[in-house]
Amino acid sequence: MVALKNLLTACFSWKEYPMQFFADTADVAAIRQLHEDHRIDGVTTNPSLMAKTGRPIMDVIAEICDIVDGPVSAEVTAADYENMLRQGRLLADIAENVAVKLPLTKDGLKACAALSDFGIMVNVTLCFTPMQALMAARAGAHFVSPFVGRLDDIGQQGMDLIIDIADIFDAHQMETEILAASIRHQAHVLEAAKAGAHVVTIPPKLFDELLQHPLTDAGIDRFNKDWQEAGGQEF
Ligand code: G3P
Repeated sequence: MVALKNLLTACFSWKEYPMQFFADTADVAAIRQLHEDHRIDGVTTNPSLMAKTGRPIMDVIAEICDIVDGPVSAEVTAADYENMLRQGRLLADIAENVAVKLPLTKDGLKACAALSDFGIMVNVTLCFTPMQALMAARAGAHFVSPFVGRLDDIGQQGMDLIIDIADIFDAHQMETEILAASIRHQAHVLEAAKAGAHVVTIPPKLFDELLQHPLTDAGIDRFNKDWQEAGGQEF
């Protein structure tokens, strides 16, 4: 899909896609409903989210990849290079839309370079500084996941990280996509969009919350009332 988009962009100055919305969960039932309701662009999981399922990771990722065509992030649990490669290949073999998630460590970036050389999509995660993001991009990451909420949690301005990374990536025309993660609320989504993040990955509950406003509901009620008072013609 990314290749097609790039081709169309090159040939027809194709309108750039808007920021993509991924679901940050490993709950297969929730993903199925979200995809039906919101046509989600992808999914991110992590060992904590996967542990909540109580199911084998290979089964869960396979089921998610059957539901969503876009990138599905599946994270290794190994800390050393050799086992990251081994696990990464196992995960990538599940489906072509698997993005192997690797931590932002020396072994993680070595594994990122090796797997991306094999054409495997990599999402480098647990990013907390612009320089970490730049190192991930150098290593061939398809996505880098800066964690906004966890910086907020320690009293920092997590969104400044997205802004700084976007500035650096724009200045150097980096192809790596910024996948804003650890998103806690609507303001994070708004600020990530303004900062130029390519993707936000959000908790399931946020999808509905982003659509809702009391004035929208009140406006619909008013339209219906006026329509009915004028006779409520059917068509
Ligand atoms: O899955 C990666 C990231 O979105 C996790 O966020 O809420 O655990 O800080 P959180």
